[in-house]
Amino acid sequence: MRRKLVAGNWKMNGSAESIRGLLQGIRDGAAGVSAVELAVFSPFVYLAQVQQQLHGSAVAWGAQTLSEHASGAYTGEVAGPMLKDFGCAYAIVGHSERRTLYGESDQAVANKFAAARKVGIKPILCVGETLEEREKGITESVVERQLKAVLDLEGIGAFGEAVIAYEPVWAIGTGKTATSAQAQDVHAFIRAKLAALDAKVAGQTRILYGGSMKAANAGELLAMADIDGGLIGGASLEAKEFLAIAKAGC
Ligand code: 13P
Repeated sequence: MRRKLVAGNWKMNGSAESIRGLLQGIRDGAAGVSAVELAVFSPFVYLAQVQQQLHGSAVAWGAQTLSEHASGAYTGEVAGPMLKDFGCAYAIVGHSERRTLYGESDQAVANKFAAARKVGIKPILCVGETLEEREKGITESVVERQLKAVLDLEGIGAFGEAVIAYEPVWAIGTGKTATSAQAQDVHAFIRAKLAALDAKVAGQTRILYGGSMKAANAGELLAMADIDGGLIGGASLEAKEFLAIAKAGC
C-alpha cells in the first residue's frame, strides 16, 4: 500500500515572518492528518528556518531544485550535500518552471535526479505536457520522453524510493485542474511504463498530481487508483488549505 504524500511547493514566495506562521500552522495540524505524509519545499534561504521549526515533527521538507554537481565553481547553485546538511529528505527536479524558464533539458533533469540520490535525498521528478502538446495528442510521448531520460541514467530500481509528479503545464497556476479521469489516465500510463520494466517497483512508486489542486478538488483526485498524493503550489501557502488537502487524502 502506497502512503499518500501531500507536498507544498512554495516556489519563490514567503518571508521569514510569513513562513514562521505557515510552518507553525502545518506543524500544529499535522497530527490530524497522520495517514498522509506531509512535505514542504521552501526557497533555499529559508531551509535553516524550516529545519529548525519542523525538527522532531512528522513533516518532511526539501528543496525546489539542486545542482547537478556536488561542489565547485558554479556561482549561485546549491548542491545536494548542502541540502543534506539542512535535513532535506526530498528535492524536486524538473519542475516545468525550471524546464521552460531556465532551460533545463531532460538530460540536466536526469543528472539532478542522480545528484539527489547520490546523497540520499529522494527526488520528486516532475513531468507533464503543455496545452499545445495535449491538443496535438502527444501527452503520452512527451511524458514518456521525460521519464526515459531518467530511466536511462538511473534505471528502474531508482523508482522504488523516488517520487514522480505529473503536472500538466496548462493546469499550473491557472485555476484549471485536470479532471480526475484525465489525471488518472496519465498516471496509469506512467505506472504501466514502469511496470513494463519492473512490476514490483511500479507498485511502490508514488505518483503525485500537481496543477491547481486545492481542498475543493483534492478528494476526487486523491480517490483515483494511481494518484498517490499532490504537489501543491498556490494552495500550499496557507496552512489551513494545505491541511484540508491532506485531510481529503486520509
Ligand atoms: P499550483 O498548485 O499553483 O497550480 O502549482 C502547481 C505546481 O506547480 C506545484 O509544483
